[in-house]
Amino acid sequence: GMEGQRSCRTPCPNPFDYKTQKFILTHSRMVGTLHRLLQLCILGYLFGWVFLVKKGYQEMDSDPRVSVITKLKGSTITKTQEFGNWLWDVVDYVKPPQGENVFFLVTNAIITPKQRQGHCPEHPSIPDAQCIKDSDCPMGEPVVGGNGIKTGKCVMLDLSQSTCEIYSWCPVENAPLSRHPLLAAAENFTLFIKNTIQFKKFNFLQMNTQTTDDDAYFKTCLYDPVSFPLCPVFRIQDALQEAGYDFQTIAVKGGVVRIIVDWDCDLDRSAICLPHYSFSLQDVHYNFRTVQYYWGKDEREFRKLIKLYGIRFDISVTGKAGRFHIVPATVNLGAGLALLGVVSTACKLLYLHTHTHTHTHIVPATVNLGAGLALLGVVSTACKLLYLHTHTKAYYTYPVCLVKNYCNKESQTDSTFFK
Ligand SMILES: *[C@@H]1O[C@H](CO)[C@@H](O)[C@H](O)[C@H]1NC(C)=O
Repeated sequence: GMEGQRSCRTPCPNPFDYKTQKFILTHSRMVGTLHRLLQLCILGYLFGWVFLVKKGYQEMDSDPRVSVITKLKGSTITKTQEFGNWLWDVVDYVKPPQGENVFFLVTNAIITPKQRQGHCPEHPSIPDAQCIKDSDCPMGEPVVGGNGIKTGKCVMLDLSQSTCEIYSWCPVENAPLSRHPLLAAAENFTLFIKNTIQFKKFNFLQMNTQTTDDDAYFKTCLYDPVSFPLCPVFRIQDALQEAGYDFQTIAVKGGVVRIIVDWDCDLDRSAICLPHYSFSLQDVHYNFRTVQYYWGKDEREFRKLIKLYGIRFDISVTGKAGRFHIVPATVNLGAGLALLGVVSTACKLLYLHTHTHTHTHIVPATVNLGAGLALLGVVSTACKLLYLHTHTKAYYTYPVCLVKNYCNKESQTDSTFFK
């Protein structure tokens, strides 16, 4: 009784009391202007950048499921001295022919026909095969970077050159690469890309051939970045040109071209979504060897060695889709408003520190304590902001989890933060 009364000289705090702070309106032009300026900056950032540019009010899906099917069309006849007229169709010049998203288009070749196993001199361009006498070619040793196994003999090719004789597929590949691409006509071949993209989160599926109702359109159209940017039929030469290179130059030694199909879907704006195609050359010089085996009249096996030069196309699909959702909108708005709080507190601090002299004779201790606490407030708000910006996903699933079964595994572990 008595003790209780003594300690309660001032009215006892009631748990149901609501405390408010007393505001003082001051006239500091400098702090006032700074305060307004910072507020304007933050509002500009919030509505200009976060909401308009970054579409902070949307729920995003940037992990689409995609599939790509390709088909090339065109054929040509090549004329060479050794092989005469030779027709090339899709099956001959596309490897593999299944219509995958990575494929190789033959543009040039070195053909070495009628090779059979036996003894012949190694190619003189290989350093390890250079020799002067037989002992330079120890029998049974493979030629480093060469085509076969040394037989122990040094053979004179002409007056100036000798190389080791090897056991190999003979004769070794020797023809020079043509400076004029064998399949120069491939510049007019066409590539059709059929692409499906699916955003699971929004249950949205779209094909790049569904952007018009005219079925015949895709049979006759040809891609052009300005006049027909949606047509998925590309002339090979145009694709190279878009990548910044000339087909006939690249075709001599080959290269790698990347085609990116990018989908940027704003599902608030439109129910159909349009792809954007872009091209870039990733590498110059691309070749590999392949062989065809056959039996000669004497029942001995021959092979035809073909070194193919060409352009490898890598087609990749990227995309993201967004649609308005109340949770990210609220979270981003909240984060922006918290930033306003930081500015307010910082300005209060600044005011206290620059104007203390007017109060010193009254309560210097209180002012300094107040300033210290305000500093704590800044730290608190800054941490809240940092958390919101790094953990938006967790923050965002927490209220939703309560409403509907929206929780995936990741967010469940994150939401323990709030318990
Ligand atoms: C490709 O087609 C154009 C126009 O039809 C033609 O002028 C050109 O000669 C063709 N290119 C080749 C290498 O055949």
